[in-house]
Amino acid sequence: MDSLIIEGPSKLSGKVEVSGSKNSALPLLFASILFNEKVTYENIPRLWDVETTLKLLEMMGCGTEWDKEGGRVSIIPRVTSQIAPYEQVKKMRAGILALGPLVAKYGDAKVSLPGGCAIGARPVNYHIDALRKMGVTVEVEEGYIHASIKGKLIGTEILFPEVTVTGTENLLYVGAIAEGTTVLQNAACEPEVVALGEFLVSCGAKITGLGTQTVTIQGTPLVAPTKPIRVPPDRIEAGTWVSIALATRSQLEISGCDAAQMTSVLAAFRQMGAKIEEVNQGTTLKVIPVEKYSPLHIETAPYPGFPTDMQAQILTLLCLAEGRSTVVESIFENRFMHVAELQRLGAKIEVNGNVATVEGPVKFQGAPIMATDLRASACLVLAGLISKGTTKVSRIYHLDRGYQRLDEKLCRLGAKITRVAE
Ligand code: EPZ
Repeated sequence: MDSLIIEGPSKLSGKVEVSGSKNSALPLLFASILFNEKVTYENIPRLWDVETTLKLLEMMGCGTEWDKEGGRVSIIPRVTSQIAPYEQVKKMRAGILALGPLVAKYGDAKVSLPGGCAIGARPVNYHIDALRKMGVTVEVEEGYIHASIKGKLIGTEILFPEVTVTGTENLLYVGAIAEGTTVLQNAACEPEVVALGEFLVSCGAKITGLGTQTVTIQGTPLVAPTKPIRVPPDRIEAGTWVSIALATRSQLEISGCDAAQMTSVLAAFRQMGAKIEEVNQGTTLKVIPVEKYSPLHIETAPYPGFPTDMQAQILTLLCLAEGRSTVVESIFENRFMHVAELQRLGAKIEVNGNVATVEGPVKFQGAPIMATDLRASACLVLAGLISKGTTKVSRIYHLDRGYQRLDEKLCRLGAKITRVAE
């Protein structure tokens, strides 16, 4: 397992390019299962989760080609096995996204229950209930979801009890092919869901309401894409870079963004006093250093609210604000694992249920700390950059799951980070 040794405090400067979105790339890659012909992708980020997704597709019989440097992937979707095994799905909960396409295309799927992770139990009951409403027989046995349908998938109205990103995505795959009309109520509005929906529309799907809480899908046969699908930018990586620039008080230029997808994140930072310029139609963000940050009350929420995947990053930044802040984690039941690690660096944070109270400003002192989940690992690297002395962040594989060589990008901006294998 790798660790990062970070010498702080670090001043950064220069330009950084945001990679393709992990949470967009994964559902788009699984969508290849819906076709018989080769599907090609561009701007695929170089991440462990992409590696795991391609392995899952290969285990189903698909051919895959991955030009890691060029960010191009091709899938030859000759599915011979409709099984998504535990050994891969346990590494990446997004493996549940094999369920919808396999049921839609083959009427049969055996997908491992994802299992929980550091941030929560990650149940998939909403996915299962929705498929059952579509006429799919779903049994959960020995840790696997067995889904099958004898006749045709029939469109119907689905109300999600809670906004679910991958649940909405799974039902987009199925609704696009089912007979009749499928209406998703309380659908997720995340840009990654919209990107998947728009891709399906480009293949002939009849979908309206994408990006709103009511999505209507008229089932129809799909036509395989003839040109490469370009993965949109990663709004969470972009937000992470802004938080790094703000925390280290560095002048950074962050390109490959889409500011229109970051309104709540940028608003929160600006409310703290940050100076962030949007240039080139919001595809580049320029962060101008400021000395003082104001405290904030922030609650995570489904899009377009403040994203839970940015909670750890803003929590770390609020340790530098002048006064008391509160951060409410409304999406996952256990997404404050990074607090104990930040406290080891000197953070003054108290967690009570799903509310973290932060006193600032504090000066961090370097110490050994441990990454617990993907976005937490980014906040710990951020914390190491602003700590005085040496910070060693272990279990950095969490970081590599969702960020394309963040340490290398940081070193190019002037950070002093070495990666050590242990
Ligand atoms: C997606 O996870 C993202 N992953 C997560 O990003 C992100 O944090 C999350 O959405 C929320 O935005 C991918 O897109 C691959 P949910 P997902 O279903 O779809 C509960 C990252 O860092 N729920 O929207 O699994 C669930 O427990 C990852 O890249 C049920 O109870 O999340 C949670 O409390 C982490 N039953 C809430 O709903 C279900 O069947 C939202 O979960 C489904 C969800």
